[in-house]
Amino acid sequence: MDKIKIIGGFPLHGTVKIQGAKNAALPILISTILFNDQVTITNIPILEDITTTLAILKELNLEITPVSPNTFTFNSANINKFQASYDLVSTMRASMLILGPLLSKYKQAIVPLPGGCSIGQRPIDLHIKALQKMGAKITIEHGNIIASAKTGLLGTEINFSKVSVGATEHVMMAGVLAKGKTVIHNAACEPEIIDLANFLNKGGAKITGQGTSTIEITGVESLGNTNYTIMPDRIEAGSYALAAIATKGEIVLENVKQNIFGDFLTILEKTGAKLKWLNATSLQVTAPKEIMPVNIVTAPFPAFPTDLQSPFMSTMLCAKGDSTIKEEIFENRFTHVPELARMGAEIIIQDSHSVLIKGKSHLTSANVKATDLRAAFALIIAGLVAEGETVVTKLHHLDRGYNDVVGKLSGLQAKITRDQ
Ligand code: EPU
Repeated sequence: MDKIKIIGGFPLHGTVKIQGAKNAALPILISTILFNDQVTITNIPILEDITTTLAILKELNLEITPVSPNTFTFNSANINKFQASYDLVSTMRASMLILGPLLSKYKQAIVPLPGGCSIGQRPIDLHIKALQKMGAKITIEHGNIIASAKTGLLGTEINFSKVSVGATEHVMMAGVLAKGKTVIHNAACEPEIIDLANFLNKGGAKITGQGTSTIEITGVESLGNTNYTIMPDRIEAGSYALAAIATKGEIVLENVKQNIFGDFLTILEKTGAKLKWLNATSLQVTAPKEIMPVNIVTAPFPAFPTDLQSPFMSTMLCAKGDSTIKEEIFENRFTHVPELARMGAEIIIQDSHSVLIKGKSHLTSANVKATDLRAAFALIIAGLVAEGETVVTKLHHLDRGYNDVVGKLSGLQAKITRDQ
């Protein structure tokens, strides 16, 4: 079995190059369906979720040509299939975002229902209702979403009852080639949404308001030839920053940007960590002598991101007092708690959304299993501080979103190896 072995107790030191953002790359790659000409995209992270996305696009006969390890060209001229296969969609929920672009450009799409996942039920009602409001006919048959829009999608007002990153991206993509103006109210404001809008605008789309809660999309006839560089991965960057603090180290995050972190950096400073921008793209993170406990609540951007909740929990296990986490986005995102408990962590689950973390838990090595992507990194942080050799398995979760963790952490002086 594929496993990562970590000998804990070594502070992280050095520089780590941050990958392109997974959660910006996924919708950006999918939205190449909307273009008529060739598109070149750089800073694409090499991850399992990207491999899945490329496979789905290839199934549609979208031509993809590698230019260098992180750069590909995409040409949608020969798309002649409008259906994604269950095997691919079921491994990655974001793949259902192909529905809107196929529908708006080719007026038809069949996409398997993505189903629930380990962090919660994750319904898609907001996506479906919005596309219906734009004129799509949608039925669910035998586990497939079957959609058509004979005369194309129409711009309209969409009022989301809940802030959703994916649904905001989906409507933005669907609105680009729709007739007339689409206005999204209660839109998500995540930097990845700004990145998607910037990419589409570079190809000729007319999107304004990205990064605010009201986004306007004026439909255009077509999108043309362009190139784009994906933004840095703020979640990967945050994960390494938390690992540096937990191990009492000092690292430099390279290839990041100042405006992508929202409140996260302020919360890092509350732990006592010192943050210093060495230049516009390099952030130095220095751990405090003693880590202060900080209570957090996850919520849409700019608040603390749910994707950093589990790594933050591992860091808080090393704090000098107790802290709490309230998870407001997903209903089942504490599956890492029993695994951390196997390492001696004292964490009390108060209800399905709240935990109390006992600081200065004495962590000792154990065999642990990753239960989702971010939980995998939380266990790695725990392993970096635990006494003895921790073994982490179920690494397919980790590989979905973190490129070369072992290489990057080894470069930061961690004692970490991976066995097949
Ligand atoms: N929701 C609904 N109905 C919908 C859509 C969402 O009720 O139709 C609910 C969800 O169940 C959840 C909340 O709305 O309770 C927010 O979910 P959202 O739609 O914002 O999440 P997402 O678009 O499915 C993206 C990221 C996630 C990240 C969340 C929240 C991508 C590919 N995924 O998911 O990333 O946690 O936003 O920020 O962008 C990860 O990278 O580990 C990851 C899970």
